[in-house]
Amino acid sequence: MEPADLSALQEQALEELDRARTLAELEAVRVKYLGRKGLLPAIMEKLGDLPPAERPIVGRSANAFKENFAQRLNVCREQLERNRGGVVPKRAWDPTLPGLWRGMGVRHPIAQIMEETIQIFDRLGFTIADGPDLETEWHNFDALNTPADHPSRDTQDTFWLTDTLLLRTQTSPVQIRVMESRPPPVRIIAPGRCYRRDTTDATHSANFHQIEGLYVDRNVSLADLKGDLTYFARALMGSEVKVRFRPHFFPFTEPSVEYDFSCHVCGGKGCRVCKNSGWIEISGAGMVDPKVFHNVGYDPEQWTGYAFGMGVERLAMIKFGIDDIRLLYDNDARFLEQFA
Ligand code: DAH
Repeated sequence: MEPADLSALQEQALEELDRARTLAELEAVRVKYLGRKGLLPAIMEKLGDLPPAERPIVGRSANAFKENFAQRLNVCREQLERNRGGVVPKRAWDPTLPGLWRGMGVRHPIAQIMEETIQIFDRLGFTIADGPDLETEWHNFDALNTPADHPSRDTQDTFWLTDTLLLRTQTSPVQIRVMESRPPPVRIIAPGRCYRRDTTDATHSANFHQIEGLYVDRNVSLADLKGDLTYFARALMGSEVKVRFRPHFFPFTEPSVEYDFSCHVCGGKGCRVCKNSGWIEISGAGMVDPKVFHNVGYDPEQWTGYAFGMGVERLAMIKFGIDDIRLLYDNDARFLEQFA
């Protein structure tokens, strides 16, 4: 018996296994090759007659034969058992086998920031409000006191779908929808998607997220705004974070401010992330402009309120130390699983 003969025999044996159509046929093939009087034991028996130099070679081939045969036998047996009258025999399923681990998903950093922000404002009595991504010009601009010639209305910034319908450029229209639908007092936050015709780079994306806040009641003041946003900053980033408010302009608030966090990467000393200023801009905010109250039918003599709109990507980037906004949209599992 030469090794070449053995491999031909193995070929033949495996083919016969494949051809077996019943478990009985399969068993017959097994007996023919591996049975006590089978072909393989016969070969093994004659191993001693071979010249000593050939013995280990043929012996190894015979063992490989045996292994391959046993493996194919198992596969064929399993297939036949599975197909037998459509009934799965009890032993075909082994509950002690380890399962297939496909990895645990994690919540996206944007979703984590939104949920955490919702929880923090929930503690201050804010409930969640919602509005459509496809907005009217009235809700996104007019009612928010944005003049007709304001640059943000330009087709450069806004995705217009028709003359009066657009993809909202901010979550602020949710303020209008809420105030149009219920009387004061109001205390809501509105997380959601926004769209602008921005060219994508490390800090810009045409599709991003904001969280809008609106608090209307009697005697709401700028001190409430500063106190609540400072509370939010510490709850989200830790008590070391400093906040500052800078005068600014928005059409729908008066006075308006911009609200910055001290840079958590350098602790305020100045670094690449904060462009050496020590501060990172988080949000626009201010006291609701009386014209906006007028537009929704609230009496500005009775009611005052503050509003803010924060960039969620910004918050995620500084909280998690992410230096490129595009990472948040690539959905690379190796990146995302770091936020478990
Ligand atoms: N909507 C503004 C923006 O996208 C942000 C903003 C500023 C929201 C002031 C507000 C606010 O509610 O009071 O730039």
